Amino acid sequence: MTKNKFYVTTPIYYVNDAPHIGHAYTTILADVLSRFHRALGDDTFFLTGLDEHGQKVQQAAEKRGLQPQAHCDELAPRFMDLWKKLGISNDDFIRTTEARHQGVVQAILQKVYDSGAIYQKEYEGLYSVAEERFITEKEAESGQFREVKTIKEKNYFFKMSQYQERLIKYIDDNPGFIRPEHRKNEMLGFLRQPLTDLCISRPKSRLSWGIEIPFDRDYVTYVWFDALINYISAIGYGSDEAKFRRWWPGVHLIGKDILTTHSIYWTTMLFALGLPLPEAIFAHGWWLMGDSKMSKSLGNVVRPLDLIEQHGVDAVRYYLMSEMILGADANFTPENFIKRYNSDLANDFGNLLNRVSGLIGKNHGGIIPAALEPTPAEEEVARSGRVLVPRVEALVREYKVDEVLNEVMNLIRQVNKYMEAQAPWKLAKTDLPAAGRVLYTATEALRLAAVLLKPVMPEKAATVLAILGVPDSGLAWGELKSGLALPAFPPLFPRIEVEKKV
Ligand code: ME8
Ligand code: MG
Repeated sequence: MTKNKFYVTTPIYYVNDAPHIGHAYTTILADVLSRFHRALGDDTFFLTGLDEHGQKVQQAAEKRGLQPQAHCDELAPRFMDLWKKLGISNDDFIRTTEARHQGVVQAILQKVYDSGAIYQKEYEGLYSVAEERFITEKEAESGQFREVKTIKEKNYFFKMSQYQERLIKYIDDNPGFIRPEHRKNEMLGFLRQPLTDLCISRPKSRLSWGIEIPFDRDYVTYVWFDALINYISAIGYGSDEAKFRRWWPGVHLIGKDILTTHSIYWTTMLFALGLPLPEAIFAHGWWLMGDSKMSKSLGNVVRPLDLIEQHGVDAVRYYLMSEMILGADANFTPENFIKRYNSDLANDFGNLLNRVSGLIGKNHGGIIPAALEPTPAEEEVARSGRVLVPRVEALVREYKVDEVLNEVMNLIRQVNKYMEAQAPWKLAKTDLPAAGRVLYTATEALRLAAVLLKPVMPEKAATVLAILGVPDSGLAWGELKSGLALPAFPPLFPRIEVEKKV
């Protein structure tokens, strides 16, 4: 296996309120991919963090009667604590108010200014306060932008327009760059309009909470120009060249709401800096509540903590990863959650484990039986297990975590059918070793499934592997050891009973 490098990022979230399921989703997705890549032996770095400047944060602080920095310092731990609870294995956590970040932003502004790609002019345009950016008339007409007002002021501009053709060509030449495919087409569509230059300053008289522009102290940096730079400031750009070269370029996981800022602002900023573009920008869909996006400003959010308390961390991780089909929106409902949990985890996986260990206890003295020579029925299960591993690896490299879970559950379903067909509880009466062979095979499939599920459900998978006595086993078929005693254990995924409506 070739050793690859995997540098993955999440958006840095605004610290204007507590995190919700949407933020948890992207962060868990990055965590799952990181864990898979580490398991594949890839050199992996996982970055997440917080976007602490700009109007939204300043307004949120004002509302609470706090200085912006005090507000950020108070809210930041809510994100960090939640990520800890969710088992997030990030290698670094960046806050844009940290000196290591601010210094890099200022150095970059100066560099781009000195190169002649930043200029000042008086400007009048439509501004969406909700999105914190100037929008085109066409965008305003789309009705998708809230709190739009006309603003006239003198500002600094980044010559984004000069990169239009180069960016189009880059996107065309690199089909896997913006993913999924339909998002790439959306961006190419956007680039059919003439690209304007990007306003990258805010007069302090209007907004003071930002990084001061190094060549004009009356201005602070536009929050997006500041925030996007986190992806390179955190990994040593301008401070640790070796570290930077080791990790850049990376993969940006984002929601579709911030596709334009990533595929157009960020890429052209990188052009201006003479740096390679990201390896990939992957925009997932939205978690909806009913028909509308789950969002802080709409106030229709599901708090991850409540769910964790009710159903456990791994069940929440599993639900979020399996329920959202790559690239599409997903609807969050408690009913879906329970349905998914009961069918996949309680029924398919949990029952198989209970059944197998019950039969081993009852008929085989609680000792994992010998594998014996496989018959065609065992060969078939083993073959499924063997082809699953490279298939999962390929899917992981395509960010298709929902399909990974589906494929692993298909193996479990196949083994449930194999158990029905072989009926080792009957076989035990006439041919005990043959019954043992069936149970060995089913248990081995469970072991392999647990190894493959570990990035998604680290705790539960570790529990299964500990029960089976092979906590550090890997991806090869047949690593289950015969002759080990199975301990007693409480049900792994107890069924969630729903009260029937009367
Ligand atoms: O945009 N469904 O921060 P933000 C799915 N600070 N994902 C969702 C979601 C939903 N309903 N709601 C939020 C910002 N997300 C900027 C980013 S990056 C340099 C700066 C997730 O707090 C999703 O990843 O508004 C989305 O892109 C992100 O949170 C937006 O978080
Ligand atoms: Mg947002």
